[in-house]
Amino acid sequence: MCGIIGYTGSEDVKEILLDALELLEYRGYDSAGIAVKEEKTGETKVCKCAGRVSDLRMICETEKLLSTCGIGHTRWATHGGVNDSNAHPHRCGRVTLVHNGIIENYRELASDSGLTDKLVSETDSEVVAALLNYYYKDDPKEAIKKTVKRLTGTFALVILFEDCPDVIYSVRNVSPIVATLCKEGAMLASDLTALCRFTNEYFVVPEYHILELHKDHIVMTDFDDHVVEPEFLTVDWQLNAAGKNGYPFYMEKEIMEQPLAIEQTIRGRIVHGLPDFTADGVPDHIFTDCDRICIVACGTAMHAGLVAQALVKSIIHMHIDVELASEFMYSDPVIDEKTLVIAVSQSGETIDTLEALKYAKKRGATCLSVINVKGSSIARESDYVLYTCAGPEIAVASTKAYTTQLSVFYLMTAKMAQLRGIFTEEETLCFIRELERTPDTIKEVLESRKEIHIVAKKVLSAKDLFMIGRGLDHSALLEGSLKLKEVSYIHSEAYASGELKHGPIALITQDTPVVAAATQEKLLSKELSNIREVKSRGADVLLFIKKALAGNLDQEYEVITLPDMRDEFMVLPTSVALQLLAYYVSSDKGFDVDKPRNLAKVVTVE
Ligand code: G6P
Repeated sequence: MCGIIGYTGSEDVKEILLDALELLEYRGYDSAGIAVKEEKTGETKVCKCAGRVSDLRMICETEKLLSTCGIGHTRWATHGGVNDSNAHPHRCGRVTLVHNGIIENYRELASDSGLTDKLVSETDSEVVAALLNYYYKDDPKEAIKKTVKRLTGTFALVILFEDCPDVIYSVRNVSPIVATLCKEGAMLASDLTALCRFTNEYFVVPEYHILELHKDHIVMTDFDDHVVEPEFLTVDWQLNAAGKNGYPFYMEKEIMEQPLAIEQTIRGRIVHGLPDFTADGVPDHIFTDCDRICIVACGTAMHAGLVAQALVKSIIHMHIDVELASEFMYSDPVIDEKTLVIAVSQSGETIDTLEALKYAKKRGATCLSVINVKGSSIARESDYVLYTCAGPEIAVASTKAYTTQLSVFYLMTAKMAQLRGIFTEEETLCFIRELERTPDTIKEVLESRKEIHIVAKKVLSAKDLFMIGRGLDHSALLEGSLKLKEVSYIHSEAYASGELKHGPIALITQDTPVVAAATQEKLLSKELSNIREVKSRGADVLLFIKKALAGNLDQEYEVITLPDMRDEFMVLPTSVALQLLAYYVSSDKGFDVDKPRNLAKVVTVE
């Protein structure tokens, strides 16, 4: 959480920092700030405020900031409320810094070093600035080393020292920092989105290394002062300068990008019609050597895991658990050398998922991850990685990352079924052919978005809403419900339809609309009975149903038909329709769809 940017080069730094902060705002958007080195005086000037980057931009417009070197920050509050003085950068004496992470021992540090009186904010970050200033005797690296040795917690620190014009220093533990050198200068950031505009080459700063950015070169050293050469990676993301490509919100743009994102994710992994992970360097034996699978993930990525679980259970008949990454290591999970642990994460930086993976590795499990961001921390910790090809996902609510994760799981299920002799070659080919139809099927859902928009208006005034379905529909609705609640602030709960009678039906009235999904043929009659039960209690029903099953429906429901696929695949068109529902409810209510209240895209604190 929190977005960090640093730049030193030939361009006007103010614009570079503000533009980058806008791109990084999805990491946290309580407050924003920049610090720049004044061109003429060499002094460090700080502008910061509670609020959005747009508020900061207005403040900066009134300031004359002539500079080509500076740092910036967008905050997701952990220590201290949302106000101007808690916003970063923090300055103490000759040190100005921005921080992402949590310093657990900040109180002790402040009192042990007699710094408490010097602090003006309530943040842990300011204590680090004070400590750096305390140790700074004209040698930035010594000050960094002495300070970092005393810190407990996670941190990405980016620092300006008063007497080092044009140089930016950085050091990190767990919290990510990526950096690059390009023709405009040297840059670093919390994640790639801020760098893509300048270059597609970048490197991940290793933990406990000191990075120095100079205008035309970069120096990286370890704590023993050995120079370490950066390992550059290439990213194929194109961050369109126009940002939203004409869409009012990134969420809509990203929903619309799904056919292409899925196509890019599966293409290259289908060889002669069969699933093939050779190009990823993922050997087949990991799918046959294991006798159980455990998926660890958070949020939407965990919901993708639930779909994988349903597929693997019903097709492979194998033991597979899905664990919330935040609960995983505290729940004494059954993990050994015969377990394949799969971490799923869009960002590859979610700290709970990262910690869960490290724990599983220690227990001897083979670790595979399904990740969107190349070179991210989880990817680097994993034995094997399957990258989704969703491209940058900016809206906080995940859409294309989810459906590309699902696509990888369909490929993986087919691969396992083939390797374990459950599918014949013909059956595998047939399963994969269905997966290849997905982009076109999703296009059909997207074409019907006006219809979904009309239906969305029916739930605009709801305070509470239920989503009901069985089997894979239930898995899709769990994600649909999360999507709706996070962007529209409607309290929404997804229930397995059969469970309704065991409690939640008590809450059904004419004021609680019910969204139902019915795409699984073998469960249709039972699902329709459950829908009648809520209808009888006055609920308005929005029914998302597979076209082939929509024959003799009661007229009393709002019906949205979904294009036909094999039942196992219906979760894809259903999910896209539910994403559109959430999107339209949020945008019709006038909310900032891309930046829901209190949320952040990348959760790097436990
Ligand atoms: C946050 C995001 C969600 C995401 C979850 C896991 O809560 O808002 O969209 O699903 O983190 O993130 P990851 O990057 O690990 O997929």
